[in-house]
Amino acid sequence: MEQNIQPVPRTHKQAEKAYDNMARWYDLFAGSEKKFSSIGLQMIAVQPGEQVLEIGCGTGHALIELGKACQGGSVSAVDISEGMLRISRRRVHSAGLDGIVTFHKGSAASLAYPDDTFNAVFISFTLELFDTPDIPIVLGECHRVLRPGGRLCVVSLEKVESLIVKAYEWGHKHWPELLDCRPIYTRTCIEAENFQVISEKIKVMWGLPVAIVLAQKV
Ligand SMILES: C[S@@+](CC[C@H](N)C(=O)[O-])C[C@H]1O[C@@H](n2cnc3c(N)ncnc32)[C@H](O)[C@@H]1O
Repeated sequence: MEQNIQPVPRTHKQAEKAYDNMARWYDLFAGSEKKFSSIGLQMIAVQPGEQVLEIGCGTGHALIELGKACQGGSVSAVDISEGMLRISRRRVHSAGLDGIVTFHKGSAASLAYPDDTFNAVFISFTLELFDTPDIPIVLGECHRVLRPGGRLCVVSLEKVESLIVKAYEWGHKHWPELLDCRPIYTRTCIEAENFQVISEKIKVMWGLPVAIVLAQKV
């Protein structure tokens, strides 16, 4: 199945540079993704007092929802791009959530948190940016930093056999800087890293399937 997934030729350094360059414009063209992230946020259902991590927080829309939901708890946000983090910090500040959300610039492939730290980890439109051999590393890190029974919610482009997915993959192959996400087998990737899937929704964005998967650390 893995061979079926398109490779991601760029390095993490190149990804960082790409997102630094697009940070200022990101919200102008990524608005359609918010609807799917919101479904993931409902599914992960953060509770007061919880410790939450968002990986690839981007410009920080989900951080506002997570920060409001975790009253008395906290949210940690990781992103590789300083440009994206700058916009996130501004958004969090405007929402009055400075004391609740903290930021860390770094890669999801090597999280700077101790084992068993978080009740919940949220990842939206970021897991599918990683090359296939890196996906288990990122999910392994999520598993490590989650407490036993902790929840993981992943929102991601989903691989299915369809003409539109083939056309998108063709685009990804020829313009990887423009179409940097590519569809993956989200649920299969998660289950392979010792998570038990609790629920899964498949939605459609511009004709492309989007998986929203909620799982629990076992
Ligand atoms: C497509 S954006 C999604 C942003 C946000 N989650 C959303 O749904 O709007 C992907 C984000 O992942 C970040 N990213 C890319 N590679 C990363 C890595 N290795 N570690 C952490 N974040 C990374 C990018 O900087 C960017 O902010």
